[in-house]
Amino acid sequence: MKNFDNLKNDFERARRVVILACTVVVLSSLLLIYLIIDPRLSAFKNAAPQSEMVDIPLDNDNNDTIENGIHVRTGFVDAPGMIETVQNCTNCHSSKLVIQNRMNAERWKATIQWMQETQNLWDLGKNEEVIINYLVTNYPPKKKGRREGLGDIEWYTLKE
Ligand code: HEC
Repeated sequence: MKNFDNLKNDFERARRVVILACTVVVLSSLLLIYLIIDPRLSAFKNAAPQSEMVDIPLDNDNNDTIENGIHVRTGFVDAPGMIETVQNCTNCHSSKLVIQNRMNAERWKATIQWMQETQNLWDLGKNEEVIINYLVTNYPPKKKGRREGLGDIEWYTLKE
């Protein structure tokens, strides 16, 4: 009888070990599947190129509304060449990046060329001239006067 009890205990112990092992395997498989599926944690999240697209909400009712001479959706000044500029210059980055820059025609052209050479900006064809004219007319370099002469200064001596 004693032998039989021992055998039963061994069997019971083995059964527990097997159940525990199975549970561990199942749980880690579930965790692995979760890690692969969850986009925030996915081990493959760097496989797809991350783009810096800016979402401009598409509101078809007033997609191109102009208010007070400003294209509401992008903030561009309403002037000849605006639509070409909206269509070609807001695909990759916000219109703000364009608007906050002030350049003369050469520098606008150079910026466009730089984007074409390094950022996959397409050939603008005939629109290039239209866009550069629009930009240099509406976003020319800010005229800076000479700064005022310094006056009323307390000079301090440099210590050695
Ligand atoms: C194919 C994508 C793409 C398009 C289309 C595009 N750009 Fe850009 N542009 C970029 C990238 C990328 C940068 C760099 C952004 C950054 O530095 O965060 C950039 C930067 C700029 C800058 C800032 C340059 C600087 O020196 O900081 C200006 C100004 C600009 N773009 C104007 C334009 C204008 C004008 C157009 C339309 C002719 C245009 N972009 C269309 C990709 C594009």
